Amino acid sequence: MVEQDQLWTQAYLKLKGQWKLEPNWKLIEYLHLIPQGPVLDLGAGNGRNALFFAKLGHDVDYVDVSKTYSRRMKDRAKDEKLELTAHNTDIREFDIPEKHYVLIIASKILQLFPKADIEDITRKMNAGLARKGLIYVYTFSVENFKHSKRLHELELVEENTYYHKKHRQHFHYFKSDELLSFFPKLRMIFYNEDKVHNLKKRDSRYLFVLEYLGQRVH
Ligand SMILES: C[S@@+](CC[C@H](N)C(=O)[O-])C[C@H]1O[C@@H](n2cnc3c(N)ncnc32)[C@H](O)[C@@H]1O
Repeated sequence: MVEQDQLWTQAYLKLKGQWKLEPNWKLIEYLHLIPQGPVLDLGAGNGRNALFFAKLGHDVDYVDVSKTYSRRMKDRAKDEKLELTAHNTDIREFDIPEKHYVLIIASKILQLFPKADIEDITRKMNAGLARKGLIYVYTFSVENFKHSKRLHELELVEENTYYHKKHRQHFHYFKSDELLSFFPKLRMIFYNEDKVHNLKKRDSRYLFVLEYLGQRVH
């Protein structure tokens, strides 16, 4: 236990100090539940979660459509002598191997798709879990629409889904029971709805956040 604590503390402090990156805190809190094995980070961005799990010794696959993010991440991994497998593609095109991963991370990504895509992605996430594997989701709730100052820029395309024409981007914000409905067979380990300060403040003073961790038991 002491050894595990030292490992994550070192990995955490190094990432936080060096690149001002820190993984989602809930993943650290529940680290003891994550078995050894491969990890998948969907929409990995700057790699704060993917790099953290690679530092802990997991084989990490990450998917991101952005060439810039993927290149930055490769440079960081090289600096740290870490080997992660990059998939520079759209998540919808990525075939998640079945029963493979001990952890699948979808942090700040599922809200960027219309509902049919979310159904498809989460179905593949569920199928991709090894026994005792976990799914972690950090996303945003419908409350965000109520407080948004930019709704006029968006076109409503289906319930709780808007489309931003200029940015060619969907936004689907979740009702709390709706997010849980995508993971019906998992044991819920953690679920929370929160209101956090929006540091960028382009839209509203607050962000309404949903955070979920579930585990495959059978
Ligand atoms: C808001 S960032 C979240 C980054 C990271 N997961 C985090 O929590 O800090 C969303 C990331 O998803 C990527 N992304 C957006 N749409 C995508 C898609 N269709 N397929 C793959 N990656 C996508 C973006 O390039 C960006 O890096």
